[in-house]
Amino acid sequence: MRIDIITCLPKLLDSFFGHSIVKRAQEKRIAEVVVHDLRDYTLFKHRQVDDYSYGGSAGMVLMVEPIDRCITALKAERGYDAVIYMTPDGKTFDQQTANRFSLFKNIIILCGHYKGVDERARQAFITHEISIGDYVLSGGELAAAIVSDALIRLIPGVLSDETSALTDSFQDSLLAPAVYTRPADYNGMIVPEILLSGNEKEIEKWRFENALQRTKERRPDLYDKFVRGNDPDVK
Ligand code: ADE
Repeated sequence: MRIDIITCLPKLLDSFFGHSIVKRAQEKRIAEVVVHDLRDYTLFKHRQVDDYSYGGSAGMVLMVEPIDRCITALKAERGYDAVIYMTPDGKTFDQQTANRFSLFKNIIILCGHYKGVDERARQAFITHEISIGDYVLSGGELAAAIVSDALIRLIPGVLSDETSALTDSFQDSLLAPAVYTRPADYNGMIVPEILLSGNEKEIEKWRFENALQRTKERRPDLYDKFVRGNDPDVK
């Protein structure tokens, strides 16, 4: 997978992509993340990429031209499966979307800033508009990092134990069960005995029931969905 991220604050992403699991994926040549500075694509002096909004509402807007020039240059090099715009008014990102996007080979992610990007850039170039939640960040960079991480960790070979992504919370619409490590008794707080039994079938059963219980308590919305999905009589 190759992810091209377009931003006017490229330095913001250096630390994340230089240290995370994404770095390991890049070293293993399983994934590649290339960050592009939008200011390299402007024809304006002083590397200007934004301007006041027509109609006078407060805030600066990223101009369509540098976005066009950057995306057009990238598309001349290779085909893209998706051109994603990170925006709080997009579709909320979830594990199902991550699973779907993780099958893509080449992706562009455009980060918004200030009041967003000129609507014409969205209409002309964007295939998917994605939000990471109902709150507003100062820019799309952190959101782009989150989406990149969620996709790249799903690619086989990125995580050391391939099955671990399959047992994540949300993969089967349930939260993940509780996990424990040594010591088995910490100041009287003991690990559930079944997990020490070596009985794989019973352990699996305990994990499923624990996941079900946690989901019911913490995310009744997901629990309801899970029960509906698994009961042919419930509509
Ligand atoms: N940019 C600003 N806020 C955002 C959000 N919640 N999701 C994605 N991109 C954003």
